[in-house]
Amino acid sequence: MRSTVLALGAAALLGAGTVLADDIPTCSLDKKCPESAPCCSQYGQCGVGAYCLGGCDPRMSFSLDSCVPAPVCQDKTYKMDKASMNKIVDIGKYLGDPSTADWVSQGEPVNYNDNTLLTMPKDSVGTVLASTTYMWYGSVKAKIKTSRGAGVVTAFILMSDVKDEIDYEWVGTELKTAQTNYYFQGIPSYVNSGNISVTDTWSNWHEYEIRWTPDEIQWLVDGQVGRTKKKSETWNATANQWDFPQTPSRVQLSIWPGGLASNAKGTIDWAGGPISWDHPDIKNYGYYFATFGEITVKCWNANSAPGTNKGKSYYYNSYRATNDTVVDSNKRTDLASFFGTGTDMDKGKQSNTKGGSASATKSGGSAQTSVPNSIPGAGSAPANQVPGGGAGTVPGGGSGSSGSDDSGSDGGQGTVSGDANACGMNGFAQDCGDGDSGSGKGTTNNGVRTTSTAKGASALAAVVGFVGLMFL
Ligand SMILES: *[C@@H]1O[C@H](CO)[C@@H](O)[C@H](O)[C@H]1NC(C)=O
Ligand SMILES: *[C@@H]1O[C@H](CO)[C@@H](O)[C@H](O)[C@H]1NC(C)=O
Ligand SMILES: *[C@@H]1O[C@H](CO)[C@@H](O)[C@H](O)[C@H]1NC(C)=O
Repeated sequence: MRSTVLALGAAALLGAGTVLADDIPTCSLDKKCPESAPCCSQYGQCGVGAYCLGGCDPRMSFSLDSCVPAPVCQDKTYKMDKASMNKIVDIGKYLGDPSTADWVSQGEPVNYNDNTLLTMPKDSVGTVLASTTYMWYGSVKAKIKTSRGAGVVTAFILMSDVKDEIDYEWVGTELKTAQTNYYFQGIPSYVNSGNISVTDTWSNWHEYEIRWTPDEIQWLVDGQVGRTKKKSETWNATANQWDFPQTPSRVQLSIWPGGLASNAKGTIDWAGGPISWDHPDIKNYGYYFATFGEITVKCWNANSAPGTNKGKSYYYNSYRATNDTVVDSNKRTDLASFFGTGTDMDKGKQSNTKGGSASATKSGGSAQTSVPNSIPGAGSAPANQVPGGGAGTVPGGGSGSSGSDDSGSDGGQGTVSGDANACGMNGFAQDCGDGDSGSGKGTTNNGVRTTSTAKGASALAAVVGFVGLMFL
């Protein structure tokens, strides 16, 4: 395993530096995306294609319908075993049909002993998986063995497109604590976190569960309730609303480097100190990793809203983005190509079947063309590669975003999944035998992803910087 991954890192380095662009529009509540790149990604940047899929924030996008409707909840058990690896699809290859993928990935998931490892090789920004379907209340439980080491964070969260969020996070130096948290619409709060004591989270499998109803959130470990938060405790008199997560959310699993030197000091401290790339896990395995076993989603299945999953998709009909503004509809959820948006879902449709994704990937990733970026984390999209992890929001695109400058220095090591060789070596099935005929695709994708990974580190700093505020 070790040499494989080292080789992978080397391959990544070689591919670095292809494409960089700094002209990607950013977005926030005060600054919506332009019509030409209408979709605001989870990490606050504008684009088309995959920017309009999971994580697209309608409040910050050009119009409410710029984002593609979100696939409704499905009861499901994800085995996370070898056979299910082909249901983990790179973000550069997913167009929004949840029957084609269970998870969308950025980074490097690897199968090991019939579990899925999320890996973080030296100098990378880790790996994130996001579910392709959304939960509108319900229960999700996951068998997890966390990562370890100073500055290394494992996360299992629910995150909505308007940044309602319910979290488990584990810091690699605090292996007896599961940290829990929640956010309403990404509004920073200093008082919502809570800890649950557990036996060593690195050595032991535990089953972590989030039970989320319109009235309360419960965090359970191995079937025992460790924390309960009631909606009734969350009234915000200033805003005249419940500051309680209430909108359809994706499950996100990640490992990310909270202890990067470029992060805010508060973040690094919270994450257990600076990350060391000479840690035994890097030496022995080639990466830090968190291990995910079976994951089970049970939808809330309300008879009437909120919390239904009767149709195909959810969308928002108001900028308030509260639970009474979510519509459970039969609108389609898939784009014809990476040129599409919520208001032009067939854009770029090709008569020739297989070509669509390749050409769109190329165009989207290339800063030299005038095509807006289409794959968060591709090409020039610094902020979007990033594992969600903590409070994956940077309200106003603000705090900590200074990190986006030093990204180049990371040189794009890390997690290239588009590289054909890497594929063969590490058996990350998704990017291997997809039968892609165009060799140009692999090449392009490699350059793109490498670059984006490099920038991602800094973007992560931006995201993490925000989390870090809470600990300053
Ligand atoms: C949770 O545990 C962490 C690590 O031990 C600690 O820093 C933090 O203050 C705790 N949070 C709460 C709310 O007790
Ligand atoms: C109440 O809502 C306002 C406006 O959204 C927000 O700024 C404030 O932080 C909230 N109060 C608390 C205690 O979270
Ligand atoms: C969600 O919607 C229901 C019914 O409209 C409402 O009673 C409830 O307060 C809402 N929940 C939250 C958290 O806003």
